Amino acid sequence: MTRLQDKVAFITGGASGMGEMMVKLFTAQGATVVAADINETALEEKWGGLDNVMTLKLNVASDEEWETAIATVVDKLGKIDILINNAGISTEKGLNDFTIEDWRRMSDINGFGPFLGMKHVLSTMKEAGKGSIVNISSYTALVGMGLNPYSASKGAVRAISRAAAVDFGKWGIRVNTVFPGIIETPMVANLQSSKAILEGLIKMTPLERLGKPEDVGNAVLFLASDEASYITGAELVIDGGYSAR
Ligand SMILES: NC(=O)c1ccc[n+]([C@@H]2O[C@H](COP(=O)([O-])OP(=O)(O)OC[C@H]3O[C@@H](n4cnc5c(N)ncnc54)[C@H](O)[C@@H]3O)[C@@H](O)[C@H]2O)c1
Repeated sequence: MTRLQDKVAFITGGASGMGEMMVKLFTAQGATVVAADINETALEEKWGGLDNVMTLKLNVASDEEWETAIATVVDKLGKIDILINNAGISTEKGLNDFTIEDWRRMSDINGFGPFLGMKHVLSTMKEAGKGSIVNISSYTALVGMGLNPYSASKGAVRAISRAAAVDFGKWGIRVNTVFPGIIETPMVANLQSSKAILEGLIKMTPLERLGKPEDVGNAVLFLASDEASYITGAELVIDGGYSAR
């Protein structure tokens, strides 16, 4: 018996980084996984031809696309037990550099996206009388790491997750939030920030290293699974101790 036997898990941002790792970890534990991402080419490259992974092009900021995506999955796989709202974008722009459009785009994808996911998966989970949702926020929602739209969008994820946990509990649906620190994924590799900044952050981290996608993926797997059946509204920080200072 595996930990996600017979479960259907819908993972956004499933074509890269932490989402890609979650697809691997979840399928290894017996789940059928829907890997949803805006990058169709990467989805096909990573997961094309696998029996236990269904790929789906989805822009998480689109209400219409979410509606179609959830209906397609329920039609094909019959249910959705787990939703992981993981897709996101980041920015290196500082206070004086970002535009109103930058702010709106970040809010639409990082903040509004998880809201839409929860809104659209609700009816199928309600019908089943159970479900597990994990939303990926960021340590930047908890500590001051630059006044920018990224932190704001991740703060929104924290707030809506708590609200949903309270509202959805009566239907047997759990909602938890994970706050990764700096994790070695393409998102971080693509940042132009100097190596010196990352080295400085590592020095400030009690465990003295950056995180790996599996550090987050394994925690998300636990929260998603029935092993966490009495855990909802929880906030799990996975940052090597950085924010404990
Ligand atoms: N890497 C870090 O240090 C770090 C730290 C804290 C939080 N996070 C958060 O973790 C999540 C995963 O990040 P990652 O580091 O694996 O990044 P990543 O860039 O490796 O992967 C993100 C994925 O999201 C997809 N995506 C982007 N916009 C989308 C959209 N509109 N609709 C659907 N898919 C979209 C991308 O195509 C990509 O496949 C993000 O929400 C990110 O903000 C990352």
